[in-house]
Amino acid sequence: MLSHGTVVPGSWLNMFGTTALLLFLLATTCATAAPNCPPLGPVFEKPRNFKSSAAIRAALANLTETFQARDEDNSAAVRANITSYSLEVFSISDTDPVIFDWHHTAPAHASSNITNGGVKKTDADTVYRLGSLTKIFTVYTWLVQDGDVKWNEPITKYVPELAKAADKAKDDPVGNVAWGEVTVGSLAEQLSGAVRDYGLMGELTQTVDQNTAVQLGFPALNSSDPTLPKCGVWPHCNRTEFFSGLLQVYPSYAPFTTPAYTNTGFQILAYALESIKGKPFQTLMEESILRPLNLSRTFYQKAVSNLGIIPGPGTPSDAQWDYQLGDENPTGNMYSSVRDISALGRSIMRSTLLAPVLTNRWLKPAALTSEPNAGVGYPWGIRRIVLSSVTNGKRVVDAYNKAGRIGYYNSLLNLLPDYGVGFSVLLASPNLPANANFNLADVLGEQLLPALEEAAREQAQDTYGGSYSNSNSNSNSNGVGNSSLKITTQPDRPGLGIENWVSNGTDMQYMATVLAAGYAPVIPSIRLYPTGLETVIPGEMDRKNGRAATQGKRVAYKAVFEDLNVPSRTPPSMFSTDCGSWVSLTGVTFGSMPLDQFFFVVDGSGKVVSIENAALRMVMRKG
Ligand SMILES: *[C@@H]1O[C@H](CO)[C@@H](O)[C@H](O)[C@H]1NC(C)=O
Ligand SMILES: *[C@@H]1O[C@H](CO)[C@@H](O)[C@H](O)[C@H]1NC(C)=O
Ligand SMILES: *[C@@H]1O[C@H](CO)[C@@H](O)[C@H](O)[C@H]1NC(C)=O
Ligand SMILES: *[C@@H]1O[C@H](CO)[C@@H](O)[C@H](O)[C@H]1NC(C)=O
Ligand SMILES: *[C@@H]1O[C@H](CO)[C@@H](O)[C@H](O)[C@H]1NC(C)=O
Ligand SMILES: *[C@@H]1O[C@H](CO)[C@@H](O)[C@H](O)[C@H]1NC(C)=O
Ligand SMILES: *[C@@H]1O[C@H](CO)[C@@H](O)[C@H](O)[C@H]1NC(C)=O
Ligand SMILES: *[C@@H]1O[C@H](CO)[C@@H](O)[C@H](O)[C@H]1NC(C)=O
Repeated sequence: MLSHGTVVPGSWLNMFGTTALLLFLLATTCATAAPNCPPLGPVFEKPRNFKSSAAIRAALANLTETFQARDEDNSAAVRANITSYSLEVFSISDTDPVIFDWHHTAPAHASSNITNGGVKKTDADTVYRLGSLTKIFTVYTWLVQDGDVKWNEPITKYVPELAKAADKAKDDPVGNVAWGEVTVGSLAEQLSGAVRDYGLMGELTQTVDQNTAVQLGFPALNSSDPTLPKCGVWPHCNRTEFFSGLLQVYPSYAPFTTPAYTNTGFQILAYALESIKGKPFQTLMEESILRPLNLSRTFYQKAVSNLGIIPGPGTPSDAQWDYQLGDENPTGNMYSSVRDISALGRSIMRSTLLAPVLTNRWLKPAALTSEPNAGVGYPWGIRRIVLSSVTNGKRVVDAYNKAGRIGYYNSLLNLLPDYGVGFSVLLASPNLPANANFNLADVLGEQLLPALEEAAREQAQDTYGGSYSNSNSNSNSNGVGNSSLKITTQPDRPGLGIENWVSNGTDMQYMATVLAAGYAPVIPSIRLYPTGLETVIPGEMDRKNGRAATQGKRVAYKAVFEDLNVPSRTPPSMFSTDCGSWVSLTGVTFGSMPLDQFFFVVDGSGKVVSIENAALRMVMRKG
């Protein structure tokens, strides 16, 4: 573990005479396989080489065979004979917006004479119902319309019905939601502690009669009992009925105690945004998301039947194709195609409708769950995927997911921001296999995540790999002379590796690691990770020959200095960690400039020109 904030005293440094240093240099020649610990986030730039990468091609070939076999599998886990689906693996790259797609029409649907007015065969434009994936459209609409500045304000500021009830929890916190403490953001991130639904999903009195209820072991409720919902599944509750019902119900938890899935939160968010903007929520969504992204196969409600897949046996009502959720539409009513869901996912990851900093805040966890590898966002389900095949399990890829289910339909949007890649998965079946949406993501992810990591590494090797030196010292080099380094990548290590780093005769690879660790000897390992920071600059080459400048860029990378002597903690210790590199960033500076800060200059054609270390004020040109 690299020590945090270690001050290297002058006297300690003085212990290193040239002889001592040489001894340590000799000690560094044997490397071990202790893993590197990258900071969270991409360890290489996002891949764009989807067609040229052998790893991706192998993954796609495997997926093609896997799905061919799967589409013949009628076991209870897959039910290919009755389950139709469409999926896309999309990317933010302009050249390869769709990396892989697959569409299966259940033979039972294709051969059936009951198509219920919908399509016979599925493709990228086939419309399915989304269920709770709708919530992403709802929160996206809020963010485009109003940003997140109001997210820490109480919801009571925008919803008068809740303002009236805000004080009731003071006397009776068991009986009443503390609405004055429920913020706008808490509704989006499932931390309000309010109940999941009112009168709709899960309300038995809306779906079974009194006799059945008694047989199930419930009491016979007097029909004038005020807690008996008069509305919900049908007829829908209007706004007055919804709030008068909701305000009678106990909270699950106090606000911000623990995530508790709350469908009603998105209905309340829609009421609040309507009041802020003075327009119906559907109009707000259409003007901020559906029209700007040209999502012509996406419907807030009442989708055009002949665009959809409506499986039999039975009627569209059996499939819940027609059923509308009324005022609860913002939580689960929508319809879309995988082409449109991919466009939505691309738009989020490319920040086409939001400021990039807002996207960064949106794609962050809001809370943890009781599952160690899971978290909750706004309202993402976050999955923390350990890429065990690379870097000895020290590389975590966070996936931002939102799934949904309604009637015969099952959906999933998955975003992998580290790669700028995502999955769109939509299914329709009269008897959906359990977890059908995530099962497809598991199949895709098992093949694609290691391949995407490898493709990104190959691309990084092609771009940045090679030798750099300042021997042909130019005017940019105002630092020490005779300096060089080599950049390489390895399949089992994250980031760009620095080797043979010499600064005016000093072995900087060793020295930087000793300075960062605060002790010696070390087995030095230096890896560079992209920060995402880039500045556009006039092209180097053009400046030289005086031609009109094509734009190049200055790209910032952060280094992690590690001592591979430090043993791995397997299994992990209770408190001690062997992977806390985020604490050590910028641990050593020289003249206020960080020793772990590197810049590449890339010319207008994408060719790397040079690397510079901030602390050493040293530019080394690529050989
Ligand atoms: C796909 O790869 C997995 C391992 O990742 C392997 O188990 C499976 O047999 C492969 N399938 C095909 C059809 O090549
Ligand atoms: C689908 O396959 C299962 C398993 O073989 C079978 O029991 C079922 O009858 C089939 N359903 C249809 C509609 O073909
Ligand atoms: C569907 O209709 C065709 C032609 O009208 C008929 O030949 C076929 O038997 C029907 N299939 C079923 C399963 O009813
Ligand atoms: C229901 O409650 C009302 C008012 O308390 C009462 O008048 C009525 O008798 C009750 N009905 C039944 C079936 O218990
Ligand atoms: C809501 O429904 C109730 C009766 O169920 C009715 O009295 C009221 O007028 C309705 N309110 C609105 C705003 O439609
Ligand atoms: C919008 O999408 C439709 C259908 O996918 C397509 O025909 C049309 O060209 C698109 N319009 C724009 C402006 O991209
Ligand atoms: C390089 O190091 C030598 C001492 O080894 C020193 O004399 C010289 O000034 C240094 N060069 C620069 C450019 O700092
Ligand atoms: C540059 O450094 C290397 C290795 O430290 C050394 O062998 C070489 O003599 C140095 N060259 C100059 C010009 O200082």
